[in-house]
Amino acid sequence: MRWITASQLLTLCLSLAPSGRAARCDDLSVQVGHHVVFSYPGLNPPTHLFDLIKQGKVGGIILFGENVADNLSTVISNFQDTYKQSAAYVGSPLLIMTDQEGGIVRRLPGGPVQSAKEVGQSSNPRKAATQSGRDAASALQEYQVNTNLAPVLGVYREVGDFLDNFGRSYGNTSAMVATCGPAFITSQQETGIIATAKHFPGLGAAGKTENTDEEPVTISLTLDELRSVDEIPYTKAIPAGVDMVMNSWALYPALDAKYPSGLSKAWIQDELRGRLGFRGVTITDAIEAGALQAFGDDAARGVLASQAGMDIILASARNVTQGEAIVDALVSALQGGSLSQGSFSEATDRILALRKKISV
Ligand SMILES: *[C@@H]1O[C@H](CO)[C@@H](O)[C@H](O)[C@H]1NC(C)=O
Ligand SMILES: *[C@@H]1O[C@H](CO)[C@@H](O)[C@H](O)[C@H]1NC(C)=O
Ligand SMILES: *[C@@H]1O[C@H](CO)[C@@H](O)[C@H](O)[C@H]1NC(C)=O
Repeated sequence: MRWITASQLLTLCLSLAPSGRAARCDDLSVQVGHHVVFSYPGLNPPTHLFDLIKQGKVGGIILFGENVADNLSTVISNFQDTYKQSAAYVGSPLLIMTDQEGGIVRRLPGGPVQSAKEVGQSSNPRKAATQSGRDAASALQEYQVNTNLAPVLGVYREVGDFLDNFGRSYGNTSAMVATCGPAFITSQQETGIIATAKHFPGLGAAGKTENTDEEPVTISLTLDELRSVDEIPYTKAIPAGVDMVMNSWALYPALDAKYPSGLSKAWIQDELRGRLGFRGVTITDAIEAGALQAFGDDAARGVLASQAGMDIILASARNVTQGEAIVDALVSALQGGSLSQGSFSEATDRILALRKKISV
């Protein structure tokens, strides 16, 4: 299926609709832009990305190692300056994000040097996690990056499994993860840098090779175990005020046998927002993930995720076309009524409220 592009739609609106309608069509692609985070290859962002920022179709940018050079903060200033000229400018900067977890998972130079595992194994894990959160914030601030896609709140099960293999889990007990995760979140957010608890409800039981970036992963724990082990860190991180939660792309049949957590109303709306009371912003993991191969192209996935209640869609394939296709698809879904304008606008409000908190 081919989506009509937002600019074609706008032309259509302008030619067919009375002038009042035309303005609303225009507003729609600008509104949708707040919901999509873009990525780009290498050290030189393509001109087209700047064009899209100017048109108000970009809500943020995720950075990877390949985007990082000494002059990254100049590149980011260029994004923010361009954004200030756009119709979508809301008086606060674009979300600029990266994965600065600690240990080997760091995209920017600087801390945290310790992995989550080392933090958990230190003599004073709470203190070490507090320091890690501060170190992550310093590294991000150095480059004017305002959002960290960390910490990981997974409770690993076996030595060497998916999270433990790279030292990404604070420990194998929910008590340890529930101690360290909120400490990291609090100290990092105190500096004005947004933190993200991931990957809800948890990837701690994923085996060594079970990587949602590559393929579908099913975590067949009982709902009782998911709630009494994996969700415990979230029951502490949410009252601690974590700004964002990233849902995982694993399938958890205990609550939803069809949709992975990030496409699942049951996980997002009933469990995370309903049962755990999360009021902040939800963000997807990489929309191009292999785990979603059964759910259509990236644009279709973006619509499914938004319908299920994800606020921000992460287009992280390092090409600008991907994010643009998702923006166009969301505009079409809103126009066609398959995506509710009411709940989508509530999500926009959450995103704009979060953006007001950013200091860089
Ligand atoms: C940043 O540095 C890279 C690598 O040296 C260079 O290719 C790029 O043009 C520079 N960008 C800016 C905005 O200075
Ligand atoms: C956690 O790991 C420690 C050290 O390997 C082990 O002794 C303990 O039994 C594990 N706890 C759980 C709950 O698996
Ligand atoms: C951009 O990414 C999308 C999604 O992964 C992919 O389908 C498309 O082929 C990519 N385009 C380019 C030019 O790499």
